Amino acid sequence: MVYEERIYLVGATGNIGKPLVQKLLQDPKVALTLFTRKASKVQEIFGTDHSEGKITIVEGDYDNKRSFEDSITGHTRLFLLLHPSNDYARTAQGIAEIAYNAGVKQIVLISGIIASLPWHSSSFNLGARQLEQGILSIPNKTSFVTLRPAYFMSNIFQGDVHTIKSANKFFDSREKDQTRPWISPKDIGELAAIILQEPVEKHGDAVYEMIGDPATPVQQAEALTRVLGREIAYEKITDEQNYEMLTKQAGMPHGLAFMFTQLPVSLGQHGKTVGLSILLGRQPQTLEQWIEENKTAFL
Ligand SMILES: NC(=O)c1ccc[n+]([C@@H]2O[C@H](COP(=O)([O-])OP(=O)(O)OC[C@H]3O[C@@H](n4cnc5c(N)ncnc54)[C@H](OP(=O)(O)O)[C@@H]3O)[C@@H](O)[C@H]2O)c1
Repeated sequence: MVYEERIYLVGATGNIGKPLVQKLLQDPKVALTLFTRKASKVQEIFGTDHSEGKITIVEGDYDNKRSFEDSITGHTRLFLLLHPSNDYARTAQGIAEIAYNAGVKQIVLISGIIASLPWHSSSFNLGARQLEQGILSIPNKTSFVTLRPAYFMSNIFQGDVHTIKSANKFFDSREKDQTRPWISPKDIGELAAIILQEPVEKHGDAVYEMIGDPATPVQQAEALTRVLGREIAYEKITDEQNYEMLTKQAGMPHGLAFMFTQLPVSLGQHGKTVGLSILLGRQPQTLEQWIEENKTAFL
């Protein structure tokens, strides 16, 4: 098979990566290179029945850039998603420098809406800004598209799903009319895929915030009740109880738990992102649609 473009993907075997790769696999013009710590994971998720050369797997860890450096030449675009860590801005900058030097014409980065909050309003705001600034400062940078998604619907799998299954309720420190800026990982993955398939010049150095469905805890409970066909309640807890739950039960470090406690208030003024439907060519998923698609996880 002759492909017009080769797209390199780092971090594409998770929540965002699955819909992203599924969409790109439908495009006969592109070949994909997936960077992963475990090749068998790619085969398990995306199967092995693809046309010749459609998927190349590169095994490696981005903390050691050798295998990336050895395999990036010949690719036109790079999707980049890094697990947040103290060092991830430097790691991302290093990867991006190698990519641009190797002739990559566009990088699509997963950042976060937290980068849109006032400067230094939390350590995570600074981290997300450094992540973006590191790539922006590369002298021979070409196109650099930043996606700033808000609160992933898939976060429910780390928290609320357990009490929904065991006790038909979820605990939340939000007031009943306070929204959370939800976004579906499917929308993030599909938007990244669209950008990676469209002309590089169209998106240039665009920054796209992504809030698909700001919903209150009451609306969340109603959506769960409708989809699951059983009464799911929202139980209000205090900020202190929420912090305790995040640190003691979920094992989050102080900074992360504190940010998650504050975030609904910090992002309270952010409504559904205007223009997201233009980019996606459809309305973003609602929380209810996402629950419907993932219904079995709640049974
Ligand atoms: N959760 C939220 O509400 C939220 C909000 C805004 C932004 N974000 C951002 O979204 C991203 C998380 O996306 P996600 O949910 O799709 O992630 P995920 O499901 O946790 O997947 C993580 C991906 O990163 C790869 N990875 C992790 N460590 C690696 C390493 N050392 N070397 C190579 N690859 C590595 C994994 O690949 P393998 O396992 O195959 O190696 C996998 O593809 C993060 O950047 C986070 O900051 C999250």
